Amino acid sequence: MNTTTKIYIAGHRGMVGSAVWRALEKKGYTNLVGKTSADLDLRNQQSVLNFFQNEKPEVVIDAAAKVGGILANNDYPYQFLMENMQIQNNLIDTALKSGIEKFIFLGSSCIYPKFATQPLKEEYLLTDSLEPTNEWYAIAKITGVKACQAIRKQFNKDYVSLMPTNLYGTHDNFDLKSSHVLPAMLRKFHEAKLNNTPVALWGSGTPMREFLFVDDMAEAVVYALENKLPEYLYNVGSGKDITIKELAETIQKAVGHQGEIIWDATKPDGTPRKLMDVSKMKEMGWQYSTELKEGIEKTYAWFLENINSVKEVKM
Ligand SMILES: NC(=O)c1ccc[n+]([C@@H]2O[C@H](COP(=O)([O-])OP(=O)(O)OC[C@H]3O[C@@H](n4cnc5c(N)ncnc54)[C@H](OP(=O)(O)O)[C@@H]3O)[C@@H](O)[C@H]2O)c1
Repeated sequence: MNTTTKIYIAGHRGMVGSAVWRALEKKGYTNLVGKTSADLDLRNQQSVLNFFQNEKPEVVIDAAAKVGGILANNDYPYQFLMENMQIQNNLIDTALKSGIEKFIFLGSSCIYPKFATQPLKEEYLLTDSLEPTNEWYAIAKITGVKACQAIRKQFNKDYVSLMPTNLYGTHDNFDLKSSHVLPAMLRKFHEAKLNNTPVALWGSGTPMREFLFVDDMAEAVVYALENKLPEYLYNVGSGKDITIKELAETIQKAVGHQGEIIWDATKPDGTPRKLMDVSKMKEMGWQYSTELKEGIEKTYAWFLENINSVKEVKM
């Protein structure tokens, strides 16, 4: 690896892919390649093959996926299973057949069993049943992890999987129909501030969640790129969790909303706690640097600057 190595970032316009692109540029990497889904549909095997033959990337970072919250996962199980498998299978298999030595696959903490002991360790993978609402997405991701692991085992190539915790930051999806909890709250508090109204939130506020600023995630990807990690799977997170109530209060303060927060306890809370054990990545030499308050302030500043163009996701 050097700064002229040709690195293909699949999903380079997404929240994670764009952060990885920025992080690599900042470190002086000059030979980055990216294609939008309109220019290269990664579900199409022949298009992916043609792209690899023409561009000849030397390293691949797979940050392309069909991503969404509980509602989207619940309504479109087939797309979440099949499209994610198509995207990653085409990328992984074509990379292998093109002789690519280094591949970074991004999964998600939902690959771990629903009732696994907390904090979630890498070795809990496939030890029990998944959370049913997003098992389609999780199973697709598990097959990606396993494909990369098989390549390591059989071909001795550096294909590694990183499992991020809940990510947030610039270029996030703020569409209330499909967004994750943090950007959805940020938008709700912003709109309530403008309208001078209270904010109504789902559940009791007691579940605990972990969050990582996307630029920290990008640093972890760069770390995995520049170092040969000895195992096939690494969790990436802050290793710290907070209650949803604390999250709401932190966002409320960052946004400057003055009104009341109404918790609708008749709505489901979801799993009581979800925290990753990030000690493996820490032992390797990487750890997060952006605290939640700072990350939320940066995200809100970006949201305000880009309010007219924030993503509206169509399924
Ligand atoms: N966000 C999180 O909290 C989180 C947490 C854990 C793991 N992750 C993982 O991180 C990765 C990136 O997530 P993200 O949040 O950055 O998602 P995102 O913002 O939705 O970006 C996804 C990217 O995938 C591309 N893509 C989707 N379908 C495609 C297709 N058929 N052909 C080509 N490109 C396609 C999109 O390209 P276009 O923009 O060109 O359409 C987009 O740039 C995913 O693997 C996800 O599972 C995310």
